[in-house]
Order: sequence, then structure tokens, then C-alpha cells
Amino acid sequence: KASQEAEKRGWHLYLVGGAVRDLLLAEEASGTLLIKDIDLVVDGFHKTAEVGAGVELAKALQQLYPTARLEIHGAFQTAALLWHKDPELDSLWVDIATARTEFYPYPAANPEVEASSIRQDLYRRDFTINAMALRLTPPRAGELLDFFGGLLDLQAKQIRVLHANSFIEDPTRIYRGVRFAMRLGFHLEPQTEEYIRYAITSGVYDRTTRENSKTPALQTRLKTELKHILEAPYWKPALQLLGDLGALQCIHPTLKIDEELLGQLRLLERCLRRFDSQQTLIHWQMRLEALIAHLAAEYRGHVAKNLQLPEDSINRLYCIAQHQQKVNKNISSLEAEGGVDEVRPSQIEQLLRQYDVPMLILIAVQSSRGVRRKIWQYLTVWRNIQPILNGNDLRKLGYKPGPQYRQMLDDLLAATLDGVVCNRDEAEEFLAK
Ligand code: CTP
Repeated sequence: KASQEAEKRGWHLYLVGGAVRDLLLAEEASGTLLIKDIDLVVDGFHKTAEVGAGVELAKALQQLYPTARLEIHGAFQTAALLWHKDPELDSLWVDIATARTEFYPYPAANPEVEASSIRQDLYRRDFTINAMALRLTPPRAGELLDFFGGLLDLQAKQIRVLHANSFIEDPTRIYRGVRFAMRLGFHLEPQTEEYIRYAITSGVYDRTTRENSKTPALQTRLKTELKHILEAPYWKPALQLLGDLGALQCIHPTLKIDEELLGQLRLLERCLRRFDSQQTLIHWQMRLEALIAHLAAEYRGHVAKNLQLPEDSINRLYCIAQHQQKVNKNISSLEAEGGVDEVRPSQIEQLLRQYDVPMLILIAVQSSRGVRRKIWQYLTVWRNIQPILNGNDLRKLGYKPGPQYRQMLDDLLAATLDGVVCNRDEAEEFLAK
């Protein structure tokens, strides 16, 4: 239908980007493919009148498919049709743009838009394997447009950039390159790797890390790429490769992968597997927080803010150093008072109950073994223990309701945690005393 509508108007319509890449890969592997994200480009008309062609086509299609939601992104002259949870289509996202070239007024800025032909549209893209188009309109519908050797690179399993300045223009492409290499089992073509290293040594990260940046869109894209990477099964080798390329500097110039950080990430994984098998925490974000927490304390909050992490995450990173110090100091002094094995569970519970789980996990992975064990025990066992009696029970036992209930239940919880009270009878006796 889309190609018919385009043809009616005398336009060409192309499938471009990731869908073409994935179709070609699936064909080579004789596999099947479920595409949920389709990028279409309209081309073939006069320069000034046509900028809104993509939007016009999207509007026409929305008339034909009223269940689709239409979104129009004015500044870039693109439109999207979204089917969310349509019984037949499940969810599908179709972006429709007018062929364009993006020129960058200065490196790493938000691209500005100017109408142009499909070749230029493809030339502005990140990698050769993402810069192919499949013509959908006749004549020659089904023809592959491959101006830059994308098909050969797919066969050679390599990620190759289209032009030398690509990473300077958009440093988040470094993360995309690593992501595609890991996801597809490809390698970075040597010249492309050189361009990445050049972009890093020339200080391109300055734009992604600068505070109060004039390019918040760039930070958003960096965060999106980090999310894609950190939630993928290949996140560890991807981070390692980003570290080897020096690209973690795009998060902060001092961020490096070292043995200590790798150890902390291993502990974090173990922790997430054990305490959060239901995935109530956002695992990719926890990994990112662990990376940021590896920075010197004075940088952490700013970096989290720059990456536009949620408020609770920013706050955690601003104050983790202070809380970690407090937890470590208090556990050490409890151990000094009574000996390492004499610290009572109730003392640990009282110390740790004020923190949320992500904060405790971050503190644990950065702390010594002894402190970590206490936090582990708290998270796995002590946190889940309830006092044997509740407020109703206290009332039935004849205690007059009031603020003292809180203290009584707290005392009862401590006694339960410390094994002083094991059943209801003992609990009643304990309260009577
Ligand atoms: N693109 C680009 N530079 C970027 C982001 C995107 O050139 N920084 C281009 C690429 O041609 C890409 C297309 O825009 O193929 C669509 O982007 P996106 O949907 O993010 O990537 P996909 O290639 O579709 O990858 P994925 O399968 O991960 O969605």
C-alpha cells in the first residue's frame, strides 16, 4: 500500500537502514525475520516542494490503516506510524522520511536537514551495512541500492564507516559500531577502528561529557546506545572493546576498564542473579550506575545527570560515597565492639533498612568482603523477616493502641532476627517482660 501511494504521487519509495541489513542477513542464513522497526524514505521530486513528502505519505497511509497512530516530527520532516499491540501486527513502528542529507554545522551537533536524493540520504548514514536501500516502487521494484559496498561488507562481516569524519560528527556512532560488531559477530574494519581512535584522541568526548551541554540530544543518544549495549547478552565484551578503544571517555574522560571495575561488575551480576531473578530492578541501569560509581566521587552525580538518568539514580550517585563510608564505618565499629562474629543481625538490619536495594547493591560491590557479606545476608534473609506478631495481635493481647506499638514491633523484630524469639508464645512472653 505504501508503495502504491508513493507511486500514485510520482515518488519513489525505499526501505532503508537496519531492515535491509537484517533482510539480507536472514536471506544469507536462510532464516526467517520478524521486523518491528521499518524505515522508509521517499524520493524523486523537486527540491523545495517535496520536503513534506514523507509526512504526506504517512498521512495517506494513516487513512488506509486507521488503527495506526500518526506522529509527525516537524523539525526533521519525518513521520512515524505506530501500531501498538495490534492483534495481527503485534507492535510495529514505521518511520517515513523524505530523502535528505544531514550537514553538521559543527561536529557532534544536532543534524540539520536539507532535501536531497536517496544517494545522499544513504551517504549520511553510519555504516555501509546500514546504508543500503531496497526500492519498493516500480520500475525495478525489489532492486538493491548499494552505493558503498554494504553487501560486500556484510559478507566480509565487517563494520565499515562511510566517511572519515563520521565519528567526529556523531561520537555515539562509536557505540553503535561496537554494538553491531558484537550483535552480528562482525569486526571493526581496520580503517574504521583508526577513525574511532582518531576521534577519541582528538577529544570528541568533550561534547558528550561537558556539563550543561548545548547538545542534550547527543547525551540522549549516548544513553540510548548505552542502554542497548548494557541490556544485551554481549554487554561485557562490548564494554571491554569500548574500553580498549578509549571510548568510555565519552561517558567521562577518566573512565577506564580495570581489574577492579571488572571485579565489581562480576559481583554485581552475581548479586542481580541472586536477589533479582524477577528483574524488578533495571539491570542495564544498575550496570551503568556501577560504571559511574567507579569514577571519583566528585564526578558521579554530574555524569548521571548529564546522561539524563532518572532522579533516584542521580541522587544515588551523588551520595553513594557518603553512605558507603557510613555503612563501612558503622559495621567496622560494631565488629570492633563485639568481634566479627558477634555482630547481631538486628544491628545490621537497623543500619541498612534506610537504604533502597540498588544503593545497597552498589555499596556492596565496592566494599570489602566482610561488609559485603553482611549486606548480602541482609538482602537475602534479614530484610524479609517480619516480627512474629502484628498490630492486630497486640490489640488482641490487650495492649492499648498508640505510638508505642512501633517500638514494640521493632523490639520484637530485633528479637526475632537475633533468634531470641522463635514462636508466638515466646513473642508474647518477650512483650510481657
Ligand atoms: N543512523 C545513523 N547514525 C546514527 C543512528 C542511525 O546513520 N547515529 C541510521 C542508520 O542507517 C540506521 C538507521 O539510521 O540503520 C536507523 O537507526 P536505528 O533504528 O537506530 O538502527 P538500526 O540500524 O535500525 O538498528 P537496530 O536493528 O538496532 O534498530
